[in-house]
Amino acid sequence: MMAYFASIIFLVFVLIFSSCRAQVKFDKNYKQTWGEDHLTVTDGGNGVSLMLNEQHGGAGFISLSDFGSGFFEIEMKIPNKNTNGVITSFYLQEVAFGKPVEGVNHFEFDIEFYGRNFSTNVFAKDQGHREQLFHLWFDPTAGFHKYQILWNQHQIAWFVDGEAVRIWKNLQHRGVAFPSQPLHVEASIWNATFAGGNVDWSQAPFTAFYKDFAMNACVYQGSNPKECYSEKYYWNQKQYWTLTPAQQAQLTNHRKNHMYFDYCSDSSKAGPECKFNQ
Ligand SMILES: *[C@@H]1O[C@H](CO)[C@@H](O)[C@H](O)[C@H]1NC(C)=O
Ligand SMILES: *[C@@H]1O[C@H](CO)[C@@H](O)[C@H](O)[C@H]1NC(C)=O
Repeated sequence: MMAYFASIIFLVFVLIFSSCRAQVKFDKNYKQTWGEDHLTVTDGGNGVSLMLNEQHGGAGFISLSDFGSGFFEIEMKIPNKNTNGVITSFYLQEVAFGKPVEGVNHFEFDIEFYGRNFSTNVFAKDQGHREQLFHLWFDPTAGFHKYQILWNQHQIAWFVDGEAVRIWKNLQHRGVAFPSQPLHVEASIWNATFAGGNVDWSQAPFTAFYKDFAMNACVYQGSNPKECYSEKYYWNQKQYWTLTPAQQAQLTNHRKNHMYFDYCSDSSKAGPECKFNQ
């Protein structure tokens, strides 16, 4: 009987502990960058909404730290409207929004929705236009889904609900740029015509929802950037150096069945990385 009660109590503690762990509050890892009252913290700090309208534009937030590696994640639910021209984003880049640093090369690894279409893009040493666009296998406006970007010194990989959809291998030995400088995380909602044309403002306001503000990443300390390559961080360990066979199969599947645009198909944009990153 005692053992029975002890195991019930143990189970209750496990449940409480695991549900607490799932909730990292917005303020712990992020702060607002722009948009004034278009960012609303919800659910006691566990959620954030970002709003876009014609009068005042959108809003965004940024991580409190810079990082040298990590397995970045967020859960997003994008606006459920005709969202042509509306961009809902989660991305890594090296300089703060609107504050380019002279002499620093631009690196950026993006997850962006162009309306309901899923876009991934890379800026590597100032060069962008490396988009791969997908129609996801679910409706991203209907509920929260998990979006992740893995970054270690071997690869950058994008995951949707845990499934690999894109990879950018470290191919520096083939002349392909790869970041070794600090990156931080940003997220935003805004409008631009490249995301499907002019916005239908009669549908406004557009609201995106974010949650899961956990930060599995190595804070960049400046003095010793290589510290962030240490295998004491799980995402730097050998099983994260390449995609697993299961992840490789997911990548192949999603490229074949859900990707509708690949910059690699355009010979004026395709780089030496194209034949390796598939
Ligand atoms: C966003 O929409 C507004 C209002 O139509 C427009 O003035 C602005 O130029 C758009 N922004 C971009 C980046 O296209
Ligand atoms: C999004 O996908 C639709 C097809 O579902 C397509 O008509 C549209 O051009 C795409 N938008 C962008 C910006 O790629």
